[in-house]
Amino acid sequence: MQRTTSIHGRWSHRWVFILAALGSSVGLGNIWKFPYITGENGGGTFVLIYLLCVVLIGLPLMMAEVLIGRRGRLSPVNAIALCARETSVSPRWQLLGWLGMLTGFLIFSFYSVVAAWILHYIPAMAKGVLAGAGIQQTSRYFEALLVSPERLILGHSAFVGVVMTVLALGVRRGLDRAVRIMMPALFFLLLLLLIYAANTGYFKHALVYLFHFDLEKVTPQSVLVAMGHAFFTLSLGMGAIMMYSAYMGRRDSIGRSVLWIGLLDTLIALMIGLAIFPIVFASQLDPASGPGLVFITLPVAFAQMPAGQVLGFVFFILVGLTALTSAISLMEPVTAWTVERFKVMRWQAALIWGVLAWLLGLAVLVSFETMSSLRFFSRNLFDWLNYFTSNLFLPLGGLGLAIFVGWKLSRRVTESELHLQQTWLYLAWYFAIRYLVPAALGIIFVANLYNII
Ligand code: PHE
Ligand code: NA
Repeated sequence: MQRTTSIHGRWSHRWVFILAALGSSVGLGNIWKFPYITGENGGGTFVLIYLLCVVLIGLPLMMAEVLIGRRGRLSPVNAIALCARETSVSPRWQLLGWLGMLTGFLIFSFYSVVAAWILHYIPAMAKGVLAGAGIQQTSRYFEALLVSPERLILGHSAFVGVVMTVLALGVRRGLDRAVRIMMPALFFLLLLLLIYAANTGYFKHALVYLFHFDLEKVTPQSVLVAMGHAFFTLSLGMGAIMMYSAYMGRRDSIGRSVLWIGLLDTLIALMIGLAIFPIVFASQLDPASGPGLVFITLPVAFAQMPAGQVLGFVFFILVGLTALTSAISLMEPVTAWTVERFKVMRWQAALIWGVLAWLLGLAVLVSFETMSSLRFFSRNLFDWLNYFTSNLFLPLGGLGLAIFVGWKLSRRVTESELHLQQTWLYLAWYFAIRYLVPAALGIIFVANLYNII
């Protein structure tokens, strides 16, 4: 009675699922957020807390998402409903699928704006527009870019266009092929950057910075940030991983796949840190320079280093690739759901959502221009979207999913679907999904809610 393949298709290999989920999880969170929040929260201490959160909260929640997706084999809304029906639980839980689709769509709309910045920086780096620039010039450059939507609209459109084309082509010809090409390219570029960073003479500083543990730097705030990031970076809480799991093979081990995804996402985050910080240190810049790290601080380093032009070019292509593979996963649930619900062709679903996402992204682009002050992270549409999705919707979605899987689904279903070799492993997971994950996400949600009021 259980389906072995989704109506949308299936990954060509067990590893393609892992690559695709990794493509979703390795994103701006790893390359843009992780380095600067590490910088702001005291380096190594923060990294250690973050690692604990990945293991204790991230992985159990990811297993929960994967098990629903694979059992349901449909978009989150329908996969949740199917699992609910199976255990005679109210199908209302599919609201979580709706929340997830909304969240994905909203995240996408500002992801594509960041992607437009990136697409602007790629040729700018190659041409050496910022050669020899100091921090004043690069911040002025970035601020000027923020308020010139006309210079970004092409990049924004191109990004939406590429994502929607991949989605329109479907699971096998689109997503499967895209991650098989893009993920190896991403690894390769990252390796190049690392080799360069290792030769700056500041690699050791970066190592110390990233791994030095100092108990005094542990604050409640940094624990909160670490918990929040652990599951944002793994793309949890909105059904992206759940959706990709629908295309997974029946026999593939959920535990092992999730372990790989968590391990590689973390490894890549650390590698990016080890690629970025030596470059920052070598140019005597501040590692704790906040959200501007990638667009303001690093360009200064690129402007001054030997071969910096090439380096900057490679770096921004890398950032662009990570944004692209994440963006695909943000829009796949809503695309697949539209196909299921309205029985339309995939390209039609992709086209409709592409147009809508393009319009919202445009509003975000323009919102920077009408800002009263040039301080780019004061609150405009971009900030609100970012804040609501990452800090409220995702934790809420994750919380709901944990309760649904831990408290509502029968143990028979979760146990047989996870199919773990050792009973104690199952019990550990069960404990985490019932208590640890809801507690952590509940705290994050309440704390973030409290922060805005
Ligand atoms: N995991 C992505 C990142 O680290 C962000 C993301 C969240 C992508 C949710 C898809 C879904 O940037
Ligand atoms: Na990530």
